[in-house]
Amino acid sequence: MKIETEIREQFKKTFGDPAGTMYASAGRINLIGEHTDYNGGFVFPGAIDKCIMAEIRPNGTDRVRLRSVDMDDSAEFGLEESDKPEQMWARYVFGVCREIIKRGGRVGGFDAVFAGNVPLGAGLSSSAALESVFAFALNDLFNDGRIDPFELARIGQSTEHNYCGVNCGIMDQFASIFGRKNKLIRLDCRSMEHEYFPFEPEGYRLVLVDSVVKHELVGSPYNRRRESCERVAARLGLDCLRDAGYDDLERVRGDISDEDYSRAHFVIGEKQRVLDVCEALGRGDYETVGRCMYETHEGLSKEYEVSCEELDFLNDVARKEGVTGSRIMGGGFGGCTINLVKNELYDKFIDAAVSKFEARYGHKPKIYDVIISDGAHKC
Ligand code: GLA
Repeated sequence: MKIETEIREQFKKTFGDPAGTMYASAGRINLIGEHTDYNGGFVFPGAIDKCIMAEIRPNGTDRVRLRSVDMDDSAEFGLEESDKPEQMWARYVFGVCREIIKRGGRVGGFDAVFAGNVPLGAGLSSSAALESVFAFALNDLFNDGRIDPFELARIGQSTEHNYCGVNCGIMDQFASIFGRKNKLIRLDCRSMEHEYFPFEPEGYRLVLVDSVVKHELVGSPYNRRRESCERVAARLGLDCLRDAGYDDLERVRGDISDEDYSRAHFVIGEKQRVLDVCEALGRGDYETVGRCMYETHEGLSKEYEVSCEELDFLNDVARKEGVTGSRIMGGGFGGCTINLVKNELYDKFIDAAVSKFEARYGHKPKIYDVIISDGAHKC
């Protein structure tokens, strides 16, 4: 059943008439620029045609009643800090309410049903899509749209920090709110300056291959990666690694751990790769784009150590099949590879990835074709 129909049916069954307003917000891909956002660097994401939709209706009380179609679960909570719900999935919504209130915005009680098709734990930012759809909707329903979109993204990010235990950067929520059809966004995560780049690579397709190794940033070493970067920046007397170069890093090499050195070394290279990829795209040079993607994978695997055996295996298959670019995408520790594939190689690559992966790991990877799409909106 279509997500929207399912939501409408469950809303009516759970909360009765009248219907609420429907909103949607998207998951994201990131072509290049991984683990650079919390280092003040550049990222290059886009929203995708996989989203979370929510039907919402203010209920005139100070209670929130939620139903998650995908979890087949319900939650109810108040809007005070002490009302934090038990269920992890409900905390994303609770956090968004609290972060709006903390900023002086208004949130009253509401009833909501939501569902989505952003695969969970695949590195496509299902949690940012959830935060963004509620941040966008509650801004519309209770604040006449007065909260600016940058702040909406920060509300989602603070929800992760303060209610979900992940010290993430701003990329995912930014992409989910600011995404536009057929455009990738180069975002400077320090100044928040951003530029839309048309992305309709003629002769190529973007495909995600999901290892189905569940990526779970809550409780993962993600926060420790960030701490490594912050230690190196502090040692250099900088606010963030954005301003560091390889020479600076060599200067302090003796004073930092080998592990911190490797993490920072990756970030310094990655920040430049985003700029190189944007420039290459501008001249239609997909070979360079692809080469940078492989370099990123190498760095994420060997220096940043956020890959896993299955993702390295998928990357290897891509290389052997002549795929133009392939790399682990998102926070890491599982999830997908993103692949830039020539049209004529597509079928052969997918066949090889599925059969070789299954032969090795006993289950098939999932394949997602993605279309770059609009971010948060009222439906
Ligand atoms: C996760 C985080 C982002 C970003 C990526 C890695 O998706 O939520 O902020 O750090 O990992 O690039």
